[in-house]
Amino acid sequence: MIFKNNGIIISNEPIIEDFVYLMKINEKNIADIAKPGQFLEIKTGSVPLLRKPISIFEVDKVAETISILYQVKGPGTKNLSELKANQQLDIIGPLGTGFTVKKFDNKCLLIGGGIGIAPLYDLGLKLKESGNEIEIVLGFSSKDTSYALDYFSKLGTLTVATMDGSLGIKGTVEAILSNYELNTFDKAYACGPEPMLKYLKTLEDKVNLELSLEAYMGCGLGACLSCVCKMTDGTYKRVCKEGPVFKSKEVSFDE
Ligand SMILES: Cc1cc2nc3c(=O)[nH]c(=O)nc-3n(C[C@H](O)[C@H](O)[C@H](O)COP(=O)(O)OP(=O)(O)OC[C@H]3O[C@@H](n4cnc5c(N)ncnc54)[C@H](O)[C@@H]3O)c2cc1C
Ligand code: FES
Repeated sequence: MIFKNNGIIISNEPIIEDFVYLMKINEKNIADIAKPGQFLEIKTGSVPLLRKPISIFEVDKVAETISILYQVKGPGTKNLSELKANQQLDIIGPLGTGFTVKKFDNKCLLIGGGIGIAPLYDLGLKLKESGNEIEIVLGFSSKDTSYALDYFSKLGTLTVATMDGSLGIKGTVEAILSNYELNTFDKAYACGPEPMLKYLKTLEDKVNLELSLEAYMGCGLGACLSCVCKMTDGTYKRVCKEGPVFKSKEVSFDE
């Protein structure tokens, strides 16, 4: 089921001023049914006209709230950052497929790059609730542009890479994962920039991997086909409807 509701904003706080914000919204219907990896289409204001796809960062069924973690990039996310508690937010969701959540025999690995970490937190919570042991690898450009580490460190062992080496290991997540025995994990999940996902696809024979893809979304509801991505069997699928989560082996990054 998909809802179109006016959620009431409970809080909208900067984690890093003018850069990354965490918004909590009172939204019982979506909180009741949302799965980790699903996203919302949010009306951020009269301009831009199009709704913006934003992942669900956390769901609290008891408090009947959902949270989003978002990075200010342009007019839509700038508008979002200016909203205040008690204002209404026009949301459609939950949309798309979610990640697989179940009890695995061995550890699970979460791999996030930049704002791609957003859908992985609720996933980590649900995997932990299911009794899994979790390791997390996150990549950012620098210490000053790293965020939400306190959330992820609660889920399990967290290792961070930054491009300039100002926090954790210098380089991308590859600098960390190249030292990992990936076959010791039963499952890996990733979301982040396309170069990171392309690199991870090269590892898909070593670990069962699910990727959450980003694509430009016009409608977010399966109607406009602006979000299609190529599959390894030569077909195309809609990231908003059949995705955003796909098995790595299904997805082709070839042009
Ligand atoms: C499934 C999905 C989940 C996402 N989850 C998050 C999240 O949790 N947090 C977060 O900060 N960002 C998330 N994004 C990215 C977010 O949608 C864009 O950053 C946002 O739309 C930018 O809009 P803007 O008006 O602020 O900036 P603009 O200046 O309009 O765009 C900046 C960049 O954002 C991307 N973008 C713009 N419009 C869209 C659109 N309609 N669909 C997809 N990409 C767009 C483009 O790459 C563009 O170059 C997600 C995207 C997708 C597809
Ligand atoms: S965004 Fe319109 S079909 Fe996916």
